[in-house]
Parts: sequence; C-alpha cells; structure tokens
Amino acid sequence: MSGATLIVGHRGSSQEAPENTLASFRLAFAEGADGIETDFRLSKDGEIVCLHDERTARTADADLVVADSSFGALRRLDAGSWKGERWRGERIPSLAEVLGILPEGKRCFLELKCGPEILPRLEESLLGSAVPAEKVRILAFSAELISAVKERLPGYRACWLTDYRFRGSWQPNPRQVLETLRSCRADGLASRERSVLDREFVTELRREGHEIHVWTVDRARPARRLVELGVDSIMTNRPGWLRQALAR
Ligand code: G3P
Ligand code: CA
Repeated sequence: MSGATLIVGHRGSSQEAPENTLASFRLAFAEGADGIETDFRLSKDGEIVCLHDERTARTADADLVVADSSFGALRRLDAGSWKGERWRGERIPSLAEVLGILPEGKRCFLELKCGPEILPRLEESLLGSAVPAEKVRILAFSAELISAVKERLPGYRACWLTDYRFRGSWQPNPRQVLETLRSCRADGLASRERSVLDREFVTELRREGHEIHVWTVDRARPARRLVELGVDSIMTNRPGWLRQALAR
C-alpha cells in the first residue's frame, strides 16, 4: 500500500453503532471511512459469522456460544438493542453479507478469531464475492494462522496482529517482530496503538516491504503522529470524528 493514511472503522463505526453489524459498517462508510475492520468466527454448522467474542452475551440479547450454535440460532438474536433502541433488529451478519455491502473501492480488514478450520469456508466466500483481492486484508494474532492463510490464499494479503509491548514478559523488541513477520510470510504488521512504533522501526518495516496498520486509535494526537510516520491505516471506533479531527 502507499499514499495517504487510510481511516478504517474498527468494528464499523462502533462508538456510535452496534459493533460488527451491517448498520455499523454502513455508518462507517457514510462517515467517510476508507475501510472497515471486522471479526469472524465459525458457527457450529460452518457459517462464517461476524462477531468479536466467543459468546454473544455482550453484544446480543441472549448468551450463545458461537462455535456451539447454528447460524440460524445466532441469526435470530437481536444484535443491536444493547447499543440503544434505534438499533433494535440488527442481526449478526455472515461474511458474505459483509462483503456484499462493501462499496466499490473500499477496503475490508477481516480478523480471524478462530483457527485454520475457518480457511476452506473463507476461501469459498472470498472467491465467491465480487470484492477484489487487493481490497481485502486478512488479520490474525496467530503467526501460524497467518502462515496457513498465505499457503491457502496466496493471492490475498495477510497481516500479523500484535500488541507485543503488553504480552507477558515479551519485551518490546522490533527485531523479534520482524523475524516473526518473515517466518510467517506476512505482508505486514497490524500493531496496537501503544506498541513501540517509531520512525526507525517504520523504516525497517518498509525496507522489508511490509504494510503498517495500527489499532485502535480514538484520539487526535496519536493519530496525527501516526499519519506523520506514514502508516498505511489507522483503525478507529470513531471514523467520522477522526477524519474531521485530522482535517483541522
Ligand atoms: O484488528 C485489530 C484489533 O481489532 C484487534 O483487537 O480485540 O479489537 O479484535 P480486538
Ligand atoms: Ca478485531
């Protein structure tokens, strides 16, 4: 990727709308987001569904375990009213539905929240959609999963997610990050906002041809610093607000 830093709606426009619903994604685009970040899991009957948590309790009106539930059962839940009455009736979408509403030219960052068992269905959904591969980024915290994505879907870009500064005893060590990116053949890094990302590290990542994405940035000051560093995208829960704040 190159050019201006993109603004990506994290779980859509999720400060305002119920995260990971079509309403949240549509709002992000209406607010001028360049793309959306989304979370995916597999239902018991093998549908790829858009949900962050293992269970539905936080973001729907009943508590189901996604991996133990059919798509039909998940689909019946109200995934909107927890965020306010105006969102009542929003449903947990499938990957196909999310890809189906992506406006032309916009990007979709697909975070995989489960293991490699999702890959056959992911391949089917991506290849069956009209979204060009260059508009898709696949994200995962597991370097092994990134490796498996690159093996199965070589035409798609995959970026490794890390919040390494806070991971147990793992010290902030850009060398280790670069080594992991190399070993899993990632196309780039998606780094937590507070992770160590300075000009020197950005230069090293660029030298190795990596994309750089940062999450989740909801304040103007760090966002400006990241734009100055020239990162490819900033994921934010407030895409409309951030676009305006950066324009000031
Ligand atoms: O994809 C970046 C970011 O969303 C990863 O953390 O917990 O918000 O899915 P989480
Ligand atoms: Ca995510």
